[in-house]
Amino acid sequence: MSNYAIILAAGKGTRMKSDLPKVMHKVAGITMLEHVFRSVQAISPKKTVTVIGHKAELVRQVLGDATSFVLQEEQLGTGHAVMMAEKDLANLDGQTLVIAGDTPLITGESLKSLIDYHVNHKNIATILTADAKNPFGYGRIIRNSDEEVTKIVEEKDATDFEKQVTEINTGTYVFDNKRLFEALKNINTNNAQGEYYLTDVIGIFKAAGEKVGAYKLRDFNESLGVNDRAALSVAEEVMRERINRKHMLNGVTFTNPKATYIDIDVEIGADALIEANVTLKGHTKIGEEVTLTNGTAIIDSTVGAKSVITSSTIEHSTLADSVTVGPYAHIRPDSTLEADVHIGNFVEVKGSYIGADTKAGHLTYIGNAQVGSKVNFGAGTITVNYDGKSKYKTVIGDNVFVGSNSTLIAPVKIGDNALTAAGSSIVEDVPADSIAIGRARQVNKEGYAKNKPHHPSQK
Ligand code: UD1
Ligand code: CA
Repeated sequence: MSNYAIILAAGKGTRMKSDLPKVMHKVAGITMLEHVFRSVQAISPKKTVTVIGHKAELVRQVLGDATSFVLQEEQLGTGHAVMMAEKDLANLDGQTLVIAGDTPLITGESLKSLIDYHVNHKNIATILTADAKNPFGYGRIIRNSDEEVTKIVEEKDATDFEKQVTEINTGTYVFDNKRLFEALKNINTNNAQGEYYLTDVIGIFKAAGEKVGAYKLRDFNESLGVNDRAALSVAEEVMRERINRKHMLNGVTFTNPKATYIDIDVEIGADALIEANVTLKGHTKIGEEVTLTNGTAIIDSTVGAKSVITSSTIEHSTLADSVTVGPYAHIRPDSTLEADVHIGNFVEVKGSYIGADTKAGHLTYIGNAQVGSKVNFGAGTITVNYDGKSKYKTVIGDNVFVGSNSTLIAPVKIGDNALTAAGSSIVEDVPADSIAIGRARQVNKEGYAKNKPHHPSQK
């Protein structure tokens, strides 16, 4: 029988105290809603319906065409939210997974096990539960003397006795699809929060003599429901541990995984070495045998094998193999560094192509430049690419030697094998194989300094 899925993502998330809808807060670089959506894929749902409401258009953009959406205009509770999916699902045979958009740690494997358990036990409803050290805030699983689940009671409706129960509702369930929508017709708002609780359908099924069960997670961590920023940081920590562990098992060395921050979609090759306080964001790819030292931050970039990035920042750029960067360099967006390029300390590169084996060792700015291979930039070279209005391009051929403290005033071209004298302002194109000297000739006025107050003869 087919699987279906409903993701609840209409709530505002009042306790987050945020302008952003709760499910759009990120954990390890992607929204909580995307985490949930990815896990749901493990059960191969024939149809997924996501319930949106608060700032619906913003939330819709997160998942785009991957799911259908239904609007819950007023957020009257989780039961009411599921009712919104009725017109999309009510007449279908099969089982429906319902999951909250604020439980980013539940894994696809657990959802698969839950579905299997539900089907094998021929249940009408199966709740995903967990034992919590501190169950405060969660719905409690109430069982009778035969250990059968009889109902779920919300924290705010629980008696002191029920509050002692440590088995909690993770907010994830599997239902017989048709029976779910029938049962929802019988829920009401007679509870402490005046809401339509989805959890009430469990009591309704049980009272009707239907088979209701619970599948308990071994690891409570998976069930974490993020209702405030404190829980968000816990989710981040658990996810970080999972991600770093995965990379370590794949052959990556971490000197301090607790202080290494890697987004979920980052790829890292074997034998890479990652020191503490490294941050890798977005769709970053790190090649084999790369070394990233303390303080390095890499965003949406590719770093080729055997490269060494020392305490530097790289954004939206592509580095080939055996590139060395830093310490304290900044590779800004849309830069390409070919193999064996060396970018040294206090060098900034932006929107530039740099050919193989080119070196800029110190204190240099390379912006909007097309640079050949085996070029040497002297310390203090500046491509003057901006006149306050527009950006202009600097083109440098192969094997060029740019003298220290040259300013290359774009648009300008320097031909292959050319030289610029140190301290030059280069305003005109330099032909291949020539030297450009763009500075005033030095004049020495002998004896002139003797009449100046600083001179020892004046004291
Ligand atoms: C819910 C469960 C509780 C469980 C907990 C697990 C109910 C009544 N309670 O409580 O038993 O232990 O999750 O984390 O279901 N939402 C809507 N529309 C609404 C209300 C909520 O789409 O009208 C969505 C929210 O965006 C959220 C999810 O449903 O993604 C859960 O809602 P939330 O208010 O966080 O429920 P809890 O109080 O945590
Ligand atoms: Ca919640």
